[in-house]
Amino acid sequence: MDALGKLYTSTAIVTVNVDGKMNGITVAWVTRVSWAPAMVAISVGKTRYSRELLDKAKTFAVCVMGKEAKDVAEFFGTVSGRNTDKFKKYPYTMEENLPIPTGTIAYLVCEKAGSFEAGDHIVYLGLVKRQKVLKDETPLLFGEHRMM
Ligand SMILES: Cc1cc2nc3c(=O)[nH]c(=O)nc-3n(C[C@H](O)[C@H](O)[C@H](O)COP(=O)(O)O)c2cc1C
Repeated sequence: MDALGKLYTSTAIVTVNVDGKMNGITVAWVTRVSWAPAMVAISVGKTRYSRELLDKAKTFAVCVMGKEAKDVAEFFGTVSGRNTDKFKKYPYTMEENLPIPTGTIAYLVCEKAGSFEAGDHIVYLGLVKRQKVLKDETPLLFGEHRMM
């Protein structure tokens, strides 16, 4: 195991809704970056369809997945929204115009506060406008290059 694999995170699905076009992408590269105001950062590969949408989006939701939602995270993390409507496969609810997929245990509604290039990824900063815990349990973790 390499040392990078020892950086554990929660597994999240980041969702957007740009002019009615909804999409979600599984991200393991998500972290808090500011206490006050509360801010988070997500890192999205330059070639992802979500990158195109996040570049246009004003808001996004970071949906932290529960341990029972491995299949949902796997689906959103292996299929591209470029040619598939991922929200047709699993149920979801809407919060402030953003989809919250089934299996979410907590979510953050963020206003996009900036972005910058980081190698082959784009880091998007989110200012947390609203947050909610739906199920008070340990999230689906990502470490050692796998969900657990
Ligand atoms: C567990 C898991 C974690 C992932 N983490 C990230 C990540 O942090 N950043 C990223 O760009 N892609 C990540 N991916 C890959 C994307 O989720 C995947 O390429 C997805 O299909 C892209 O969807 P899109 O083309 O609709 O944006 C991850 C995939 C999995 C299964």
